[in-house]
Order: sequence, then structure tokens, then C-alpha cells
Amino acid sequence: MKHEAIEKNSLLMAILITCVISVGGLVEITPLFFLKSTIPPLEGVHPYTPLQLEGRDIYIREGCYNCHSQMIRPFRAETERYGPYSKPAESMYDHPFQWGSKRTGPDLARVGKKYPDSWHVQHMDDPRSIVPESVMPRYPWLARNDLDASHVQAKMRALRTVGVPYTDADIAGAPPQVAAKKELDALIAYLQSLGTAVRR
Ligand code: HEC
Repeated sequence: MKHEAIEKNSLLMAILITCVISVGGLVEITPLFFLKSTIPPLEGVHPYTPLQLEGRDIYIREGCYNCHSQMIRPFRAETERYGPYSKPAESMYDHPFQWGSKRTGPDLARVGKKYPDSWHVQHMDDPRSIVPESVMPRYPWLARNDLDASHVQAKMRALRTVGVPYTDADIAGAPPQVAAKKELDALIAYLQSLGTAVRR
């Protein structure tokens, strides 16, 4: 068949284009069905403890993600400022993930252990007492509010259905770990866990 014959017959051209694209698509997609996971494993990544999990929900409730991303892009300016770029496994237990794209404040993916707890206590109460030009709001109620962790076991069970490997023992042992805590305790436990799997 002459090439001219294909070029002059739009229907034949469309059919052949579809065939060629399908082959390309299948080559890309088929192997994925045979992989157990597309996330390369990373040592040191663990599911959140019950307290960290509650803190994460406070982070989401307070809308911290509106100003803070949690994904370090693989560019020099980012890695120099924040540390090694984010790996997929680091957010494999995040449902939903907190990558974000808005940065009014700095990225928090590696903020864990950057400051002592006492720094966070003061910064959450009044960011401007540490960084005078900060536009971050104050969150003074977090230190006052008792943590309502009455749903912690249900949350862990729900996360288990989407693949977070909590054991029955983890779930049974959760209530004492979140008892008699303030919301601030949970939030700081969460912040201190961020990025600790990857060391600089
Ligand atoms: C209106 C935007 C805004 C919101 C909302 C906000 N932040 Fe911030 N955040 C900032 C800015 C700006 C900074 C940098 C100045 C500073 O340290 O206060 C910052 C700094 C931080 C830092 C220090 C980061 C570092 O590496 O020094 C932490 C931790 C933090 N914020 C946590 C939170 C948490 C937790 C929440 C939700 C309870 C929150 N922020 C909500 C804007 C915001």
C-alpha cells in the first residue's frame, strides 16, 4: 500500500492512528497491572501513631494546608532550603496527602525535629513573638482545647481499609495514647513526625 493511499483516506488514517496509539498505551499501562506497588519502599516510614493521627486531623481542620505545602520539589533552590526532595513513600500513609501548591509559609515536609516542642508551643500561640514579620495567624485555642479522640479507633480502622497497616493491637492500644491530651499536644506530635524518615 502506498503512503499516499493512507493520507488521502481520513477514515483509514484515523483507524491506523488509533492502532498505533493503543500499542503505545498498552506498553505503558499493562506492566502496572502486574506490579504489587508503584511506590519504591523507603525505610523508616511508619503509619502515624494515634496522637500524630489526631494532630494531622487538627492540621487539616485548621486549614494549615492553605499556607503550607508538604512536598519538596526536586529543584536545587528547594533542596538547598528544605532538604532532600520528597519521595513517594513518604506520603504513602497520608489519606488525603498534604502536598499542596500554595506557599504563604514555608514547606513543612521536613519540619519534624527542626525545632524543639517548646518552640512550637510558643509559635502556635503567637508566631510574631518569634518571627516579627510573620503573617501566620495565632492558634491560642489549641493549647486550651482538650483533644477529642473519641473516634481514633474508627479512624484507624477506616485507614486500614485503604491500606494503612494498623494491626488489631495498634487499634486496641490507641485510646490510652490520646487520653487527657490537649489539641496542641497532638498537633506538635504530628509536626515533629514530618520528614523524619529521610535524614539530611
Ligand atoms: C496565612 C498563612 C498561614 C497559615 C494559615 C498557617 N501558617 Fe504556618 N507559617 C506561615 C508563615 C508566613 C510562616 C513563616 C513565618 C513564621 O515562622 O511564622 C509560617 C511558619 C510555620 C512554621 C515554621 C516553619 C519553619 O520551617 O520555620 C510551622 C511549623 C508552621 N508555620 C505551622 C503551621 C500550622 C501547624 C498551621 C495550622 C495550625 C499553620 N502554620 C497555618 C503562614 C501560615
